[in-house]
Amino acid sequence: MLAGKHILLIIGGGIAAYKALELIRRLQEKGASVAPVLTRAGEEFVTPLSVSALAGAPVHRDLFDLTSEAEMGHIQLSRSADLVVVAPATADLMAKMAQGLANDLASTLLLATDTPVLVAPAMNVRMWKHPATQRNIEVLKGDGIYFVGPNEGGMACGEFGPGRMAEPEEIVAAIAAQFRQGPLSGKRIVVTSGPTHEPIDPVRYIANRSSGAQGTAVARALSELGAEVVFITGPATVRPPKGVDVVPVESALEMQAAVEAALPADAAVFAAAVADWRVASASDRKLKKSKDGLPTLEFAENPDILKTVSHMPQGRPGLVVGFAAETNDVLDNATAKRLRKGCDWIVANDVSPATGIMGGSENAVTLISEDGAEDWPRMGKDEVARKLARRIASALTD
Ligand code: CTP
Repeated sequence: MLAGKHILLIIGGGIAAYKALELIRRLQEKGASVAPVLTRAGEEFVTPLSVSALAGAPVHRDLFDLTSEAEMGHIQLSRSADLVVVAPATADLMAKMAQGLANDLASTLLLATDTPVLVAPAMNVRMWKHPATQRNIEVLKGDGIYFVGPNEGGMACGEFGPGRMAEPEEIVAAIAAQFRQGPLSGKRIVVTSGPTHEPIDPVRYIANRSSGAQGTAVARALSELGAEVVFITGPATVRPPKGVDVVPVESALEMQAAVEAALPADAAVFAAAVADWRVASASDRKLKKSKDGLPTLEFAENPDILKTVSHMPQGRPGLVVGFAAETNDVLDNATAKRLRKGCDWIVANDVSPATGIMGGSENAVTLISEDGAEDWPRMGKDEVARKLARRIASALTD
């Protein structure tokens, strides 16, 4: 996907600059070429020699470097790339970008470029949260600048919070997303995944055993075909895929609100194992043992998200896909479920223990639509996801 792509990589001055070296290596592994630019501050963290040795190309450092101006002027340099990536993007560099300053090579290139720009911010948590930085981010987003990260975590300065630069593999995924030209490019698809947790009190909840593996694989496969994926996930055990818009939720009610907020969409795939019931009045205090006996939990029915979206009078996604995990009479149950829910397709599978599917890496599914039922051979969950994504692509592009 990145083969032949030309990336102009601006390395700002921050401790995360060392990760830019790994980023260069990974981009080259994927077939991209990297033209590196190092700011003065960046040079304090990584040496021009290591950057140019890894990139296999000269490092651009100086706005008034006569040799590089003679070989390639900075205007041309700024426009020769398919994508400009700023990693790490410091608070100072983003402030310059937001203001349109051009007083060194990096800021001049960023002002002169007409190619898309992706920034990977990295800074101390207080600097990130400062209203000035947040204002600048809003300005940059309004200008069409793309962001990846920052992540939350421990920092080199010893503090904790948002501000850590995204990892090189996440930046590569964000770069790949920029170039994605699959059959689903331009299509927006909502995917739900994972279990839901229904609170009993602030420390206890009711859950189910869904790992989120199949939903995650579907989201990844759709994104690899170029879709813009909104991935709404309950507390899953597998990590969400890279390059999708992740919306973490806990309960079914939160999942429903997130789905409503994510619409309109061209398609929606409901792979989540949503709890059918929640505790009617979850306590806002921890329940205590009592001499009066055991607590009684009363349940209320959760909204059926798939059914609600399938029956939307307006703004229903063009294609709505549900999943059905059954333990017996799979075909009959799933066929009835498709009609009951009002969705277009049901991906049905037999999760009775003998199949080893629940919690395993393989799946054997039947795709049920108004045209009938189609058995797919047993295959890996990733392969099921890719096949389903290709089907969705042909349905949406017919
Ligand atoms: N689903 C949903 N919201 C719910 C329950 C289920 O969106 N409250 C979706 C699931 O994501 C899945 C489909 O509905 O795509 C079927 O889920 P399943 O648990 O198999 O069906 P149920 O409606 O719970 O039916 P039953 O318990 O009778 O099998």
